[in-house]
Amino acid sequence: MQIIDGKATAAQIKQEIAEEVGRMVQAGRKRPHLAAVLVGHDGGSETYVHNKVLACEACGFRSTLVRYEDDVTEAELLACVDRLNNDADIDGFIVQLPLPRHINKQRIIEAIDPRKDVDGFHPVNVGRLAIGLPCFISATPLGIITLLQRYHIETSGRKCVILGRSNIVGKPMAQLMMQKNYGDATVTVCHSHTANVKAECREADIIIAAIGQPGYVTADMVKPGAVVIDVGTTRVPDATRKSGFRLSGDVCYDEVSPLCSYISPVPGGVGPMTICMLMLNTLKAARGGVFDR
Ligand code: GUN
Repeated sequence: MQIIDGKATAAQIKQEIAEEVGRMVQAGRKRPHLAAVLVGHDGGSETYVHNKVLACEACGFRSTLVRYEDDVTEAELLACVDRLNNDADIDGFIVQLPLPRHINKQRIIEAIDPRKDVDGFHPVNVGRLAIGLPCFISATPLGIITLLQRYHIETSGRKCVILGRSNIVGKPMAQLMMQKNYGDATVTVCHSHTANVKAECREADIIIAAIGQPGYVTADMVKPGAVVIDVGTTRVPDATRKSGFRLSGDVCYDEVSPLCSYISPVPGGVGPMTICMLMLNTLKAARGGVFDR
């Protein structure tokens, strides 16, 4: 069994990005610039956005954080998106989710210029991904496919089961895993109405668990030799930690890991790759975008 070290892989890629930025600046080009919009004070979102700002520093990017309180209006947020769309120095930006209930999330996402949508959430990017055109790809699925590639894990022709059908992970992951130029695998997506999830998983060469239920994948669901990727990051109370919580994956790591050929742990697996892929998307945006190649 080999542990997939997302932390080390992400550090390596950030180093590669920083070197590329160094060459761009040497050549007289401006630094890539990522902006993040954060609404309210959700603990998880605060941490993610803070880590995104730190990653920008590590990569040599400029970063801008735009903050609003929970009572921001949709019109104010749309005006902010419009400003960022038209700010020539900003190569890409994200609006951190979740948003307060009174804001129509989809309306905000659709207001973002697809050429600056480094999250890959705009329907133009989602649609382009579906038909195999160059586009911004959602960072978590892109991070997973990158880990599989960097560990030389064969996916072509293999059976891949994805647990979860979210717009951010499950659906784009299924697109990437089935596409010729990426996973080239046979893909099954399981969700809350799947008849027999255990049986589907037992057939899988690769399991990608993204349902947000701690310990959902147990040993009896995993074929010996399978590759298991854990996308879960549920905060569970833990009085022994200074923060008062720890991150729990979707996989029962202790009982599943001995069965696997490869497994990604939580923390230190997929998580660090997500922010790193956001940096890569921002670099691509700064180098002229992804649509016209
Ligand atoms: N909330 C959870 N994950 C993400 C992400 O990748 N991007 C944004 N904008 N919000 C998120």
